Amino acid sequence: MEIKRVFLIVLDSFGVGALPDAGAFGDEGSNTLKSVSASPAFHAPNLERLGLFRIGGTDCEREGTMPIGLYGKAAERSMGKDTVTGHWELAGVISERAMPVYPDGFPPSLLERIERETGIGTLCNRPYSGTEVIRDYGREQAQTGRMIVYTSADSVYQAAAHENVIPTERLYDYCRAARRILQGEHAVGRVIARPFRGEYPDYERTAGRHDFALEPPAPTLLDLLSEAGLQTIAIGKISDIFAGRGIGEKIPTASNADGMQKTAETAERDFKGLCFVNLVDFDSAYGHRNDPDGYAKAISAFDRWLGGFLDSMREEDLLILTADHGCDPATASTDHSREYIPILAYRRGILPGDIGIRQSYADVGKTIAAVFGIENSLPGRAFLPESEQDCRRRLAALAAEARKKAYAPYSGFRVGAALLGKDGSVTLGCNVESAAFSPTCCAERTALVKAISEGKREFTRIAVVGGRGEEPNAVCPPCGVCRQFLFELCGGALEVILSDGRGEPAVHRLDELLPLGFGEDSLG
Ligand code: THU
Repeated sequence: MEIKRVFLIVLDSFGVGALPDAGAFGDEGSNTLKSVSASPAFHAPNLERLGLFRIGGTDCEREGTMPIGLYGKAAERSMGKDTVTGHWELAGVISERAMPVYPDGFPPSLLERIERETGIGTLCNRPYSGTEVIRDYGREQAQTGRMIVYTSADSVYQAAAHENVIPTERLYDYCRAARRILQGEHAVGRVIARPFRGEYPDYERTAGRHDFALEPPAPTLLDLLSEAGLQTIAIGKISDIFAGRGIGEKIPTASNADGMQKTAETAERDFKGLCFVNLVDFDSAYGHRNDPDGYAKAISAFDRWLGGFLDSMREEDLLILTADHGCDPATASTDHSREYIPILAYRRGILPGDIGIRQSYADVGKTIAAVFGIENSLPGRAFLPESEQDCRRRLAALAAEARKKAYAPYSGFRVGAALLGKDGSVTLGCNVESAAFSPTCCAERTALVKAISEGKREFTRIAVVGGRGEEPNAVCPPCGVCRQFLFELCGGALEVILSDGRGEPAVHRLDELLPLGFGEDSLG
């Protein structure tokens, strides 16, 4: 069945380990997953089921049972580690340059342009705390009518004015003008209007704060989906991150719990397209506050919700869980960290497996475009839809997994098999030997007997791997008895995938391995 609905959920800041260039960002050794999962409050069986602890190189790998989905991680190609940069890259926009910051204030020529455009002067022009800046400059602002311009460690231009001196709507106009000017090399992440009220020294900021986000400089996945007539539903701060572009429906949220509830409500609706969710509390409430236990509790709460969501998923649904950067709560830094992001993908009947280390977050957006069959020039490599060869490789990997359980003390030759049912289910088997030798059961028959005894009847493929020692290293063609058994219960059209665990698997039809087989029909 084709995929109609994609749920892309960003666990804000849930990175899975430092990127090779993390040192350049002051983040060497950061690993949000490791710090959070070490907390006693961490309990995430559903994330584990999806493969979270199978992701390679996270320093948190566990064997456990075979996951039900695809798992891997992706590196950030953009020069940044902030929310906007991370989400843009997920949606196919790579930022080659870091967003500009102004530790010494904005260049005078830039402010002159803004002053000329708005017809109003400026004050301050340096990094400042938002509450202190109105205390220190508020009176001068009121006396002169000029606006207070300040910044922070982030890529941000902020304009503050007393609401009686510059009415809030007019301050917005001035900010819009600044937003138009702050482009190209001065394309700050956000322009923020900061109206305040009251009398010196008790000035206070009003609720009139307004953000003027930067539009993505190139078409995003969201633009492509909406142009193709698909729905784009944005839950949480997704719409702000993309300055509303390519977004059909915007659903703001107050918290993670609210975001999860609104996602569940959206899943009850019929739609064709993307539901793009950001859960921000992980980052804002726990990551930045260096609170690993709080973070772990929030992940555990998400995991509980996830269990219900997985149960409710329809055949037409694809779920992708990921992040936008790290924010390791156990390091001294309270800032984001330059990390790999996890990619966990699930749909009913998907062949589970490792999608490896991806070169860019953009693989997520590329995959979603591919799943909807949209022609595009987005960067990245899609990991879905899978080719036949992907499926074969994955089935062979599952056979290698099954082989770990082999009981072969007499021959030392260990074999694993993975049998794919027509319903998409996979049954694993290994060889089980006997001191009396003849009762020995081959891996293929173990898998087949298990599957039949669980009520499965129709099969399309079987992968077999074998060899002595730890890793599979020999091609293991089914023995005569297994060929006979498979012929009867799976039919001559069964695809037999033979892999030595290294190169590309070889593919045969069973009736090629057993021509003129004797089956049920032969009895007449
Ligand atoms: N074996 C299989 O599991 N599958 C085959 O198709 C060929 C042989 C096992 C049986 C025995 O435990 C070991 O390999 C060596 O023959």
